[in-house]
Amino acid sequence: MSTQSSGPAIETVGLVKTFGETRAVDGVDLTVPAGTVYGVLGPNGAGKTTAVKVLATLLRPDGGEARVFGHDVVRDADAVRGLVSLTGQYASVDEDLTGTENLVLLARLLGHHKTTARTRAAQLLEAFGLTEAAGKQVKHYSGGMRRRIDIAASILNTPELLFLDEPTTGLDPRSRNQVWDIVRAVVAQGTTVLLTTQYLDEADQLASRIAVIDHGKVIAEGTKGELKASVGAGSVHVRLRDADRRPEAERLLRDLLHAEVQLEPDPVALTARLGATTSDSAAEQAARALGELARDGITVDNFSLGQPSLDEVFLALTGRETGGSATQGTGPAKKDEVAA
Ligand SMILES: Nc1ncnc2c1ncn2[C@@H]1O[C@H](COP(=O)(O)OP(=O)(O)O)[C@@H](O)[C@H]1O
Ligand SMILES: [Mg+2]
Repeated sequence: MSTQSSGPAIETVGLVKTFGETRAVDGVDLTVPAGTVYGVLGPNGAGKTTAVKVLATLLRPDGGEARVFGHDVVRDADAVRGLVSLTGQYASVDEDLTGTENLVLLARLLGHHKTTARTRAAQLLEAFGLTEAAGKQVKHYSGGMRRRIDIAASILNTPELLFLDEPTTGLDPRSRNQVWDIVRAVVAQGTTVLLTTQYLDEADQLASRIAVIDHGKVIAEGTKGELKASVGAGSVHVRLRDADRRPEAERLLRDLLHAEVQLEPDPVALTARLGATTSDSAAEQAARALGELARDGITVDNFSLGQPSLDEVFLALTGRETGGSATQGTGPAKKDEVAA
């Protein structure tokens, strides 16, 4: 937005924050482009909240540098505070006040006139689907409503940079979707969002770039596409008309795509996992494969193209599953999983 948009929103070099023996943030280099959602993805205890607190000037770093729109978080902390807003554990919302009362009060504290405070509160309540609950005390809100009013409170004055620290942890799928819509709307207004999450699908849905962190270190960084390319381009799933032709189809796909081909329990189905090495997109490879099958007179009834999930990315990067198990709910931890 305005004059802030020339450089990156956040730039850190070798950032360190320790708590006694624990290196919660252990030499983090990050560049967050302005005007986008940047995802910081990592399991519980990875150092996400600590990093956010340092960037929001709530904690002093022990080493390295961090700048927010060019302002050093230690030397120019006041300037940084004027540009950022944080939603997370620091909910400024008062449980005993209604939704409207909270937002009007906070808007007044931010210097808005009574009428503009009321207008802004009403606008945000409407935008966040809280109009009906506007007159209810916040203590009677559901978890999803509570999360939404927290975010509303943090964007009363549109910040240049909004930190959303695990905004949907513990929410039901419908509430998560509502929060996602809000995040998209906030970014459409020009705010940069740094979103931390344990949910791989959340980063996938919202973020343009993602840093995967584990034990205080960035273990991978890039666009979603780049991260996914590190595990493979995806898979082509094919259902044939005739089960007899499957061995032939299997051979053909393996030779043509240099892919690992898996035979499904369904006798007409097979899946080819595409490699990350070729320059062709998964769609191009799939099209080529279908053409080749047709030329050999093998009829395909149905086919689909699958993208690798970010779960697979994390597994490929760390050799273990994420603690949070985003897409499957909270399954039991694997026996060989390292505790974070
Ligand atoms: N105030 C603190 N005092 C001591 N250790 C802390 C404190 N805050 C966080 N830690 C430790 O730092 C590490 C990173 O924690 P945190 O940043 O909260 O991770 P995340 O937000 O990714 O779950 C953890 O090992 C945690 O126990
Ligand atoms: Mg945290």
